[in-house]
Amino acid sequence: MFKMTAKALACALSLSIAGLAQAADPIVIKFSHVVAEHTPKGQGAMLFKKLVEERLPGKVSVQVYPNSSLFGDGKEMEALLLGDVQLIAPSLAKFEHYTKQIQLFDLPFLFDDIHAVDRFQQSPEGQALLKSMEDKGITGLGYWHNGMKQLSANKKLVEPKDARGLKFRVQASAVLDEQFKALRAAPRKMSFAEVYQGLQTGVVNGAENPYSNIYSQKMHEVQKFITETDHGVLDYMVITNTKFWNGLPNDIRTELEAILAEVSVEVNKQAESLNQNDKKRILEAGTTEILTLTPEQRSQWREAMRPVWKKFEDEIGADLIKAAERANEAN
Ligand code: LMR
Repeated sequence: MFKMTAKALACALSLSIAGLAQAADPIVIKFSHVVAEHTPKGQGAMLFKKLVEERLPGKVSVQVYPNSSLFGDGKEMEALLLGDVQLIAPSLAKFEHYTKQIQLFDLPFLFDDIHAVDRFQQSPEGQALLKSMEDKGITGLGYWHNGMKQLSANKKLVEPKDARGLKFRVQASAVLDEQFKALRAAPRKMSFAEVYQGLQTGVVNGAENPYSNIYSQKMHEVQKFITETDHGVLDYMVITNTKFWNGLPNDIRTELEAILAEVSVEVNKQAESLNQNDKKRILEAGTTEILTLTPEQRSQWREAMRPVWKKFEDEIGADLIKAAERANEAN
């Protein structure tokens, strides 16, 4: 009898020591992404880490893995669902397997500028998209801007016909695939980490990116021309594993959400100037000519790419497209 009690006591003691150790261990949040640190997303991840460690010291620790150093963009979503990483911020072009609605953001010439993108993201329809993948175990926590995309190539792209026959790298997005097919160009899906080499070796001849991605990946070193088309947006959704997030202690989750909201405001405020600075750096490097389009030329690109909308209208939803178009009206 006494023996049993001692054993039970030892067991209870060891359980409570384990409990104490657990309570003392910080919750680890791994934040993996594919871009360089000096980009809107890279800066956002670092600021998130800094604020979390200042405001939740000893309770939460954040590990940031930039430049596809932990997971490349083909694997990061799977890793999030498996619990190998807790936060990622894929570009909005990379969600088509989880929801068709987010394809909206890839429609060419949908938004007049980044301010219209911002208004849509903050609208009820934009906010609802954050919750559109919860049945798949993914919760959206906010939007981060990178910026408007520009076309790059080793050939001057002034009119849509200049793109004919060229091979363009695209993200894993059916809409972007169709966008280049509409130009009678050849899209090639390729992960972000492979783009520089793809351009260098001629596997692809061109790409579409905001200036910060072009500069930080040194793509300008292997692209002679950039046409300032602003033809689409490359933004991010910061996402987490729904089960992980809902399982956090309430006070910690609330604080993390407040920090993320603050970081999102900061990223979205800084993104445009980061891109403009990188545009300057590309010009200073002297490797690449930046071409601007007349309004007439730009509307030729719009006309050439616009048929893509019709192809995806049913999947995305005509009402959602209309809601996004309304965001241009305040311009
Ligand atoms: C790309 O693959 O071009 C982008 O999604 C990379 C990024 O995360 O900005």
